[in-house]
Amino acid sequence: MTTRCARFIVGAIFVAAGGAWIHAQEPDVEGANAVLPWAYVLNDAAPENGATPDPDEVVTVPGSSVSMPRSAININNGPPDWHPEGHPPMPEVVARGGGDGVVACGYCHLPNGQGKPENAGVAGQPYEYIVQQMSDWRNGLRKTGEPRMGPPSFMERIGLAATDAEARVAAEYFASMDFKPWIRVVETDMVPETRFSGWIHKVIDGGGMEPIGTRVVETPEDLHRTELRDDASSFIAYVPTGAVERGEHLVTTGGNGRTEICSTCHGPELRGLGPVPALAGRSPSYIARQLYDLQTGMRNGAWSDLMDATVADLTVEDIVNIAAYTASIEP
Ligand code: HEC
Ligand code: HEC
Repeated sequence: MTTRCARFIVGAIFVAAGGAWIHAQEPDVEGANAVLPWAYVLNDAAPENGATPDPDEVVTVPGSSVSMPRSAININNGPPDWHPEGHPPMPEVVARGGGDGVVACGYCHLPNGQGKPENAGVAGQPYEYIVQQMSDWRNGLRKTGEPRMGPPSFMERIGLAATDAEARVAAEYFASMDFKPWIRVVETDMVPETRFSGWIHKVIDGGGMEPIGTRVVETPEDLHRTELRDDASSFIAYVPTGAVERGEHLVTTGGNGRTEICSTCHGPELRGLGPVPALAGRSPSYIARQLYDLQTGMRNGAWSDLMDATVADLTVEDIVNIAAYTASIEP
């Protein structure tokens, strides 16, 4: 546990204990889901209703001439490529994976690198930045605050296994593409009821509405297409009413010293600057996990200290507001 972690958790304990400081425990592995359950998604225990789909059924998606049996969708060393014209030819490591344990990057990040809420959009991030992140994983410096959430733990294992050469080939590919508008941000007081399955929020068929509270509810625009790994099917993020403006205030002014002005490092419009990553239009669930992992020191890579002053004092509500705002900006 680092001091940054201690600050957040001890603060919570301080409040819970009615103001008397008590000795902080080591963080338990349940920490991150307990604080941001909508970002560090853990699947519901109850199985999903409905019949198991037929593996031989031939499936298609709109705007693609490709078709395949459903059994070809979840192949992690050769995921579907519905829109080959939508990206440059994929290198081997992206399309089929690399050495032992290096799963095809396109399986999770999608062939065009746009990514999903449970992973990350990697398209359009700077080459140096991607290489640095892979090196941080290889050196055990980038960890997730919620090891029970499958995909981030899986990425840790892939990052440990990937060689520098594999990382560079993948980085060159993803950095060569533009990140396209991918998240439709909707401010609201009420959201459709969702369940956690496949490490994301899924809207419950025939479910009602519930108050959004202090969270972001990010879910596929078209669940069926997302489940077919269609890299042209985007996401909707419900955020609390007023969150975008509150986030904009924090991001552009620093909120009276609460945080830093992001554009200083992330560039005007937050589209990235040199090796510093782009934030504009990226998954708010992913951004929230990173702000918290940076705050707690779980993510402690070679460049992470540059984020210390930005994240030190952020509350859960600040994280919701910032992620809502960054998601709403045109990438
Ligand atoms: C099993 C799914 C999976 C596969 C396969 C996968 N990743 Fe990831 N990747 C993730 C997840 C999940 C995250 C986000 C981790 C988090 O939220 O903390 C991520 C994050 C990243 C990031 C960080 C992006 C950022 O903005 O910092 C990079 C870079 C990355 N992956 C590169 C790769 C490369 C290169 C490959 C192929 C060698 C790959 N990934 C394969 C799941 C995967
Ligand atoms: C002093 C420079 C600096 C400032 C100011 C700054 N950042 Fe960062 N930020 C960085 C660097 C460098 C990284 C990469 C950290 C790493 O490699 O671990 C980063 C990473 C991030 C990430 C992770 C992105 C990803 O793709 O994984 C997020 C989210 C982020 N910053 C948000 C913000 C926000 C929001 C603000 C303003 C409230 C901000 N940053 C201000 C330098 C800065």
